[in-house]
Amino acid sequence: MRQYKIAVIVGSLRQDSFNRKLASAVAKLAPPEFSFKQVNIGDLPLYNQDDDTHQAESVIRLKGEIAAAQGLLFVTPEYNRSIPGVLKNAIDHASRPYGQSAWAGKPAGVLGASPGATGTSMAQQHLRNILATMDVPTLGQPEAFIQVKDGLFDGAGDIGAASRKFLQNWMDHYVAWVINHAA
Ligand SMILES: Cc1cc2nc3c(=O)[nH]c(=O)nc-3n(C[C@H](O)[C@H](O)[C@H](O)COP(=O)(O)O)c2cc1C
Repeated sequence: MRQYKIAVIVGSLRQDSFNRKLASAVAKLAPPEFSFKQVNIGDLPLYNQDDDTHQAESVIRLKGEIAAAQGLLFVTPEYNRSIPGVLKNAIDHASRPYGQSAWAGKPAGVLGASPGATGTSMAQQHLRNILATMDVPTLGQPEAFIQVKDGLFDGAGDIGAASRKFLQNWMDHYVAWVINHAA
């Protein structure tokens, strides 16, 4: 059976990030032929176009991890009604040098969690705009705007009972999307 490696990009560097927890928990809802690896974006320098001809080791590593993956999973907070700068920085790095983007053609899912009631909806919409120009096909439905509340995670860090059916359905669609669109 074909194996699918998924590069997971979490848009928060915070140690106790809800979005990192969500990324870990949701990965457990996928079938065994899917493996998920959270890529590090916290060690990337600030993007500077002058460096395109000599990209930092951390950038080369990030691009390699994306290139090796059959799919992408973005799990991001919303910062001031958009995506966090650290996530945009990572996207910009791996999109360059011009014509050598690591992102192009990799099917993606977009998730996000926030204590606020809108559950990262604006950040996700901004991210979808960016990914469109990166030529990253994103799963359109179901959308998942997740509000962080007691019970989102159970004691073991898995998705809690109240959200499990919803997120299992999301994962089932994501898995089908990757299988249909992976190169
Ligand atoms: C700079 C900043 C801006 C934020 N802006 C928003 C926002 O626009 N919408 C929202 O729902 N939450 C916002 N928040 C709250 C985050 O949703 C909350 O801090 C969340 O826990 C961050 O995700 P994380 O736990 O994965 O780090 C903001 C937080 C920070 C630090």
